[in-house]
Amino acid sequence: MTLQLWETLKESITVYTGLTPSTFFTVLALGLALYYIVSNLFGSSDDAHTHQRSRGFEEEVQPLPPPVQVGEITDDELKQYDGSDPKKPLLMAIKGQIYDISQSKMFYGPGGPYALFAGKDASRALAKMSFEEKDLNGDLTGLGVFELEALQDWEYKFMSKYVKVGTVKPANEGQATTTTTTTTTTESDAVKPPEDDGPSETEQTPIAAEDAEKKEE
Ligand code: HEM
Repeated sequence: MTLQLWETLKESITVYTGLTPSTFFTVLALGLALYYIVSNLFGSSDDAHTHQRSRGFEEEVQPLPPPVQVGEITDDELKQYDGSDPKKPLLMAIKGQIYDISQSKMFYGPGGPYALFAGKDASRALAKMSFEEKDLNGDLTGLGVFELEALQDWEYKFMSKYVKVGTVKPANEGQATTTTTTTTTTESDAVKPPEDDGPSETEQTPIAAEDAEKKEE
């Protein structure tokens, strides 16, 4: 019975394909082998891509460690969190309040456009929209009302966007610091000549001068 079936199959192969059964099976085996090799090749390269892609994606969206409270630290201690040590969070302070800005590494991390603010109380620079070294501190002495308003807006932005993780220890009690001078617009240097204070000084000088006049009256 099986032999008969086999004979019929061989006959049909010869009739339908014009090939001898052995040639037919060889061609079939080669075809299968080729299909297997080609599909495997594409399959594995696809896998590799998916794998690579997912690994890159994981790196990008790797969850940040939860913000750690640092308590009250000095300006010097705050400097350690400027991004130079990738194991430490990125911190930045506004008006003496320290925020964890690690989530915005593209802004504040090494090479970022605002990296110079990281690890510092950048109040003065933000108030004056300045990137100058001399303004990279929390000293609000002599800032005008518009500058203080701008700083307030920055503070609101940071409060809503970042987690507060500590405060900056005033360097020297009794000296002008962020916490003691927030409303001062009549400090003697508020009427300093414009060359000292960049573009925002143009807004500030008339008001500061007015204030100074009022004070004199
Ligand atoms: C040509 C001038 C400037 C341009 C075009 C510019 C543009 C931008 C843009 C597009 C963002 C991203 C905003 C977002 O996605 O939330 C940004 C963020 C920021 N900018 Fe500027 N900027 C300029 C000047 C300044 C100056 C002068 C300062 C301060 C001295 C400053 C401080 C910042 C800070 C701190 C952030 C990040 C805020 C955050 O943490 O969300 N920028 N800027």
